[in-house]
Amino acid sequence: MKTHSIALIPGDGIGKDVTEATWQVLQAAAKRGGFALEGTRFPWSCAYYLETGAMMPTDGIEMLREFDTILLGAVGWPAEVPDSVSLHGLLLPIRKTFTQYANIRPHRLLPGVQSPLRSEGFDILCIRENTEGEYSGAGGRVHSGTANEVAIETAIFTRTGVERILRFGFEQARARRKKLASVTKSNAQKHSMVFWDEVTREVAKDYPDVEVSPYHIDAMAARMVLSPESLDVVVASNLFGDILTDLGAAIQGGLGYAASANINPDRSAPSMFEPVHGSAPDIAHLGIANPIAAIWSGAMMLDHLGEGHAAAEVMSAIETVTARGIGTIAGKDRTETITRAVLAALS
Ligand code: IPM
Ligand code: MN
Repeated sequence: MKTHSIALIPGDGIGKDVTEATWQVLQAAAKRGGFALEGTRFPWSCAYYLETGAMMPTDGIEMLREFDTILLGAVGWPAEVPDSVSLHGLLLPIRKTFTQYANIRPHRLLPGVQSPLRSEGFDILCIRENTEGEYSGAGGRVHSGTANEVAIETAIFTRTGVERILRFGFEQARARRKKLASVTKSNAQKHSMVFWDEVTREVAKDYPDVEVSPYHIDAMAARMVLSPESLDVVVASNLFGDILTDLGAAIQGGLGYAASANINPDRSAPSMFEPVHGSAPDIAHLGIANPIAAIWSGAMMLDHLGEGHAAAEVMSAIETVTARGIGTIAGKDRTETITRAVLAALS
């Protein structure tokens, strides 16, 4: 039997609940599909940091390299560990070291879920650059604590980085409705963003069948609210993509439905799958986290593993459940109830 090896990092807060729920659903899907998923759990989290002084062991990344994929819940417990420590100790280095340069985030409404918008017929695929740009970490502080203090955070855009994310976006657009929106702020940022626009025009020449439209980030934010149905694939830099995908989550009914895949398209290292929501300390331990975003991310993982049929079955189980009004109102159904309903819909 074909076996895929998965590293499970439940992390903090509701990350633990939704990873457990997803794992149950994925196991059921594997059983139906005649393949096996072998999971290895890693306790890396803020609790682990408080115990050991690090978010993961020094060879943690190398340990993960052995696996086919990584399933992550959420990282962060700001009351005890500053986010700048926890995220730079786990999530962000995995994305960078494993060259998971394409962060894919689908935004569409599941049946039965209500959007805050009047427009419901949208299906947007956000492709966020995931390894450089505004998240490069280049910079520093001098004259700390004095009136002359300076803080510098340099965004880095490389030709390699910009070109590959745009190509990835064009490929996705080609497989969908053949429309690509490239998001910058080149009217104000005259180096990096003008460069991004130039590379967009160059890469576009290889995709004459895809209609390309450049947008400024501010106008894109408005468009996602006013006419989301006009959008297909949206490609953006790391920070712009981060912000737009919370907006995307909001229009699809909330963070409980926003799935994501951190993809290394060359498959030279594992890809990682995680819901967009965080650890949600306010509802952690209440048992009411919506596992749908995590389960949807799990379906994206199955697809990446070459188990497209099982992925489609999981998606259709999710849709059967939401169409029946389960998991469609924040806090109404317990994590367990939604998970059981998805499992029942699968069988
Ligand atoms: C996300 C998150 C992370 C990000 C944080 C937790 C660092 O907001 O995955 O969207 O900004 O990438
Ligand atoms: Mn975010």
